[in-house]
Amino acid sequence: MTAVVQQGCTVWLTGLPSSGKTTIATALAERLRGDGHRVEVLDGDVIRSFLSAGLGFSREDRDTNVQRIGLVAEILARNRITALVPVIAPYRNSREAVRKRHEQSGTPYLEVHVATPVEVCAKRDVKGLYAKQAAGELTGLTGVDDPYEVPESPDLRIETQKQTVQESAVMLHALLIVRGLL
Ligand SMILES: Nc1ncnc2c1ncn2[C@@H]1O[C@H](COP(=O)(O)OP(=O)(O)O)[C@@H](O)[C@H]1O
Ligand SMILES: [Mg+2]
Repeated sequence: MTAVVQQGCTVWLTGLPSSGKTTIATALAERLRGDGHRVEVLDGDVIRSFLSAGLGFSREDRDTNVQRIGLVAEILARNRITALVPVIAPYRNSREAVRKRHEQSGTPYLEVHVATPVEVCAKRDVKGLYAKQAAGELTGLTGVDDPYEVPESPDLRIETQKQTVQESAVMLHALLIVRGLL
């Protein structure tokens, strides 16, 4: 397969648990790899088991988690890799700090809001978190009893309740093309 000379970028997929972040990132990564692009997916759940091991879900720890992941993504993107980041990142300030660091190094950064309504997320409940919260077995669930600050002007908003996974992935793929990142 011929390697593609590409400009790197970070694509941050922010949204509630079960909104579809991981699913869309995985689908897009598969497609991009198939086209010969260099892609890394920095998934929140995976990262929390090593890079951010020991961090909890307080506001401070959530911010630290996002800054660490943001740094790794920025380093990858700066080195011409497409870094897809399906991580909740509930706080606007945390997301803006990551964007700023990208801007400072002239590295492209896109914010994608996976804007699935909380009722739909709770019904999907991929990891059973909404059920646990409802049963009183868990507190601090983003979008339910912990804050989620909705992005005001993301580069793209995806309403997954209205489309298939493939359609969502295609929307994001199209954005990368329009921005000259593929
Ligand atoms: N258009 C869509 N885009 C992404 N996921 C979707 C879509 N439609 C339905 N889903 C389903 O929603 C669930 C999302 O789970 P996941 O990607 O793990 O969420 P998150 O990573 O945001 O917590 C999956 O079961 C997925 O198949
Ligand atoms: Mg996920």
